Amino acid sequence: MEDINVINNQVRRMKLSGIRKMFKLADETTINLGLGQPDFQPPEDVIEVYWKAMLDGNNCYGSTYGFPALRDEIAHHQSKYRSDLIGENIMITVGATQALRIALESTVDKGNEVLYPEPGFVLYAPQIRLTGAKPVPYPVHQNNDFIPSLEKLEELRTSKTKAIIVNSPGNPTGGVFAEKAVKQITEWARENDMLIISDEVYEMMVYEGNHVSFLGDYDNVISINSFSKTFAMTGWRIGFMVTQSDWIEQIGKLHYYTVACPPTPPQHAILYALKERLDFVENMTRTFKKRRDVIVSRLNDIPGIDCITPKGAFYAFPSIDLGMSSDKFALMLLEKGVLATPGNAFGPAGEGHIRFSYANSTENIHKAMDIIEEMVEGLDI
Ligand SMILES: Cc1ncc(COP(=O)(O)O)c(C=O)c1O
Repeated sequence: MEDINVINNQVRRMKLSGIRKMFKLADETTINLGLGQPDFQPPEDVIEVYWKAMLDGNNCYGSTYGFPALRDEIAHHQSKYRSDLIGENIMITVGATQALRIALESTVDKGNEVLYPEPGFVLYAPQIRLTGAKPVPYPVHQNNDFIPSLEKLEELRTSKTKAIIVNSPGNPTGGVFAEKAVKQITEWARENDMLIISDEVYEMMVYEGNHVSFLGDYDNVISINSFSKTFAMTGWRIGFMVTQSDWIEQIGKLHYYTVACPPTPPQHAILYALKERLDFVENMTRTFKKRRDVIVSRLNDIPGIDCITPKGAFYAFPSIDLGMSSDKFALMLLEKGVLATPGNAFGPAGEGHIRFSYANSTENIHKAMDIIEEMVEGLDI
């Protein structure tokens, strides 16, 4: 086919996510510890409400900002973090992915710098780059529970730094910010007139204590959230953003020109789920916690693997000291039938780690750990 150079350089330069690359190499017999989504289905009654919403004729465009009753209900839930929130502070989006995209596009300009965690979720750097701004990674380390150091953040800050992306509970690390870290970073952002974009999609999956939101008392925060993980509905593509109401109005223009409105029928089902089925996420989180304890203890029994106990989300992110790169280790594992994600898929600072998702049965986690144990025993190190 004649190539007339249609695809621009910006897109040509983008790299395929390392997670997706690994998936292409797996087959149906592989034990999948690569999944970034719960291995659960949404509650049946929630699915029925979705179905009924469609049968009742809710198949048309809705408000760009989202279904008003759902915005009110989300505000009610988020008001545990900030008491003055109302429906106008919420915008329903097409997943957290699109919420983050329009939040960045509406706030950050060419010439700005945006700090983001590394190892960190794969969306951050490409989405920052799309705005024309410069992505500046800040490191998070296992020896500090994957919480950023304020000294390091200050070292990386320049006069061009407009925003910082934070993520707690974190993907891929499972790190959770305690109140002290949230307060310190908030004060530092306040002193430097910086926007905080806080990715809180794993808000409901915290194993010890409570989630501490960045919404708190600082006004210059955009919280990014989603129902993908909360109700095991990653394919429904419903997320939301929480911020100042005048910012919601402004960002809403970009939202309209991007998607017109978020999908209508699932919003009915999610409103029902938020009111009636929070027990679902509580039970799921209890199951994840049990699996977490199994995987962490099994990993730490393997020589050369060191895993701190993740406090949230559903990922273990151990360091590996086995005389090989994390890519090589992940490929060897895949050959033996276990899919995991090499740490460098989350940025160069993730090298030396591997991400295991425990969104799989305890039985499969044990099987996978048996395989890893045997493989490592056979290594000549
Ligand atoms: C930290 C983090 N943020 C955002 C997302 C995207 O979520 P959504 O499905 O709502 O787009 C994910 C999904 O894996 C994630 O792990």
